[in-house]
Parts: sequence; structure tokens; C-alpha cells
Amino acid sequence: MALGRTLILKLAELRPVESLVRKSFLFRPVVKRFIAGDTLEESIAASEELCKAGLLVTLDYLGENTHTEEESRAAITKYKEMLTRIGQSPYASMINISIKLTQCGLDQGEAFAEANYREVLEHAKLTNTFVRIDMEASEYTERTVRMIERVFLDYPNTGTVLQSYLHRSLADTELMIALGARVRVVKGAYLEPASVAFPEKNEVDAKYVEMSKMLLARGNYPAIATHDEAIIKAVREFAVAEGIEKSRYEFQMLYGIRRDLQNSLHAEGHPVRVYVPFGDQWYPYFTRRLAERPANAMFILKSLFKK
Ligand code: FDA
Repeated sequence: MALGRTLILKLAELRPVESLVRKSFLFRPVVKRFIAGDTLEESIAASEELCKAGLLVTLDYLGENTHTEEESRAAITKYKEMLTRIGQSPYASMINISIKLTQCGLDQGEAFAEANYREVLEHAKLTNTFVRIDMEASEYTERTVRMIERVFLDYPNTGTVLQSYLHRSLADTELMIALGARVRVVKGAYLEPASVAFPEKNEVDAKYVEMSKMLLARGNYPAIATHDEAIIKAVREFAVAEGIEKSRYEFQMLYGIRRDLQNSLHAEGHPVRVYVPFGDQWYPYFTRRLAERPANAMFILKSLFKK
């Protein structure tokens, strides 16, 4: 399984593969399953549909690792436009946003990214919208944690994501608990060496449950972001045993994945938030989703060879 994931992520980095995936109409239905559309209006329509059904949303404008200051500034302009548009929605209070620091220009400099990120947070204050920094590959983890530490006191409407596959995440969980910042717990979606991440799934899962318990007991409104039913069961059992009400945490899942589980948790009274990505820079996000479940990639490969 881990080998399949590594292979897919490595293959996806090859230029001809990227070009094939981007151009081939065969991939379109699968891309559509995971991405809400190319435009902001398409993503707002998809978000409002989810909100109508009682689900919460976090909206993500795709486009990581901007290469120039101009690209980062364009992403910030888009995020401000998103916030304004969310403010006009009848479901504004149910929608927040997720952003990546490399989109804010982290590769061009920490101070530049911070200024951009603060600009987004300032704009988000106008609509009272929460802004979460997604966690990227491990080369960015330290800078992301530092960024939250610096901006949180000025902007408590922000938080981040911690990945249970990283060795350092238990310590980062304690740090975020001390700060009072909101954390989304995930397993982690990037290819990481064993020097920084647990290679075995059972270790990643065990750490996930451990971090979730710490945050449920002592953290600020944690987001349990997973489609793993065993983990969801463990979290729910812990919350019941500790008398932690459903309103003190939320489950999060990705757009297009396990809609049945999203709906059943919501029907049982749990807040459930769906991560809704949009934009034409969907390729890296899409390949991470394929790699998480090699069966998705196999399905596409088989259809390539079918007449
Ligand atoms: P796991 O991979 O064990 O999957 C459990 C089950 O879920 C599978 O058996 C399958 O049924 C289903 N499933 C999972 N992925 C699927 C897929 N792609 N297609 C179809 N079925 C699938 N990562 C990161 O590094 N930084 C981040 O900021 C975020 N942000 C984020 C937000 C939200 C809301 C979610 C849900 C996830 C993330 N992630 C993330 C991704 C995360 O790290 C992880 O890669 C995926 O959630 C898949 O892991 P699971 O916890 O679902 O478990």
C-alpha cells in the first residue's frame, strides 16, 4: 500500500505524466469528483449545496508553491475576493477558509509571507471568518508553526493543521494547546523520509488517536479530519467517556470522499465540515488524493486500456 502511494506520487512528478493527466478527458470525471470547479462561483454553489444539507465548509483556493511575488500577490487578492464573496452568502457563518503559506509566498521569504497572511486575516475580520493554514511538506512545518505563534495573539481567528505521521507533532500539539490555537489533526499527505515521519500506518494511526485525545481534553475546538472509521469510532468513544460534548469539536472530510459518512455523522448531531477545493491549479492536490487510495489510480489506468 505504502509502495503504491510512493509510486503514484513519484510518477506524478514526471512532466509527461502531468501533461497527460491535465489534458486527457479520461481524468475529468475523477478530477470533478475531488475538485468543486475552476471558478469561485462554482465553489460557492457547491459550498451552499453542502450548507443547505447542514454540513459546514472550508473553502480552499488551489495553488501552492507560488514562484514569484506577483503570483503570491495574485493569490492574496483571490483570497480577499473569496472572503468578500463568502460574506455575501446566506451561509456565511457556515463557511471558513483554508490557505497554504507557500501560496502566501513562503518560498519568497518568511516576512513577505507573513505580511500577506496578515492581510488575509485582517480582511477575514470584516466577515468574522476563521482562516486555517494547511500544513504542507515537512520542510515548511517549523516555519508554519512559528507563523501561527507570531500572528495568533493579534488574530485569534486563525489556526493550523498538524500531521500525525511526523515525529515532532506531539510536541507541536502541546505547543498549540498552550497557545490556545485551533488544530486540525490529519495523518499527512506528502512523501516524507523515515528521519522525520513514521513509515508504518499503525504508528501514524496510533499517534493520530493520541493527538486527538490531547486536543479533545485540553485543546480549543479541534477538527478531527479523517475518513478512517476506526479512528472516528475511537474519538467518539473517548469524547463520550470524558463527557466532551459534540459541539466542542468537529469532524472534517474532503469533498467527494465518503459522503455517506459525512451525512451519517451529521445526522447523529456531529458538526461535520467539508474541505472544498477549487481553481485550475488542481494537479498536486489531485495526485495526493489518488495516492491515498491507489484503487482510484488503478480504476483510471484500467479505463485507459478499455475500448
Ligand atoms: P486513510 O488514508 O487511512 O483512509 C481511510 C479510508 O478513507 C480509506 O480506507 C478510504 O475508504 C477512505 N479514503 C481516504 N482517502 C481517500 C481517497 N483519496 N479517495 C477515496 N477514499 C479515500 N494533509 C496534509 O498533509 N495537510 C493538510 O493540511 C491536510 N488537510 C486536510 C483536510 C481535511 C479536511 C482532510 C480530511 C484531510 C486533509 N489532509 C491534509 C489529508 C490527510 O493527511 C490524509 O492524507 C487524508 O485525509 C487520507 O487519510 P485518512 O485519514 O482519511 O485515512
